[in-house]
Amino acid sequence: MASVIEARSCERFGLLAAHAPTEAMRGWYRELFASEARHHRLFASLAEEIFGEERARERIGFLVQREAEILSRSALRPRVH
Ligand SMILES: [Fe+2]
Repeated sequence: MASVIEARSCERFGLLAAHAPTEAMRGWYRELFASEARHHRLFASLAEEIFGEERARERIGFLVQREAEILSRSALRPRVH
């Protein structure tokens, strides 16, 4: 679950890095994007280490699928956690 949360943060900062109004802001968001990408990989690696790569990826896939189902039923709006 932590890996998915970090991946979503990574995506959001990636969008902000691409669309922020100044280069200073885009640079700041690029740094946050990279940081969140490392966090995502860290949690995924920990899950793979503990449960094995196949089981960890299956679980992450399940969580992402459930997330998509939940979000498909909710209103589209900006979100940052
Ligand atoms: Fe993070």
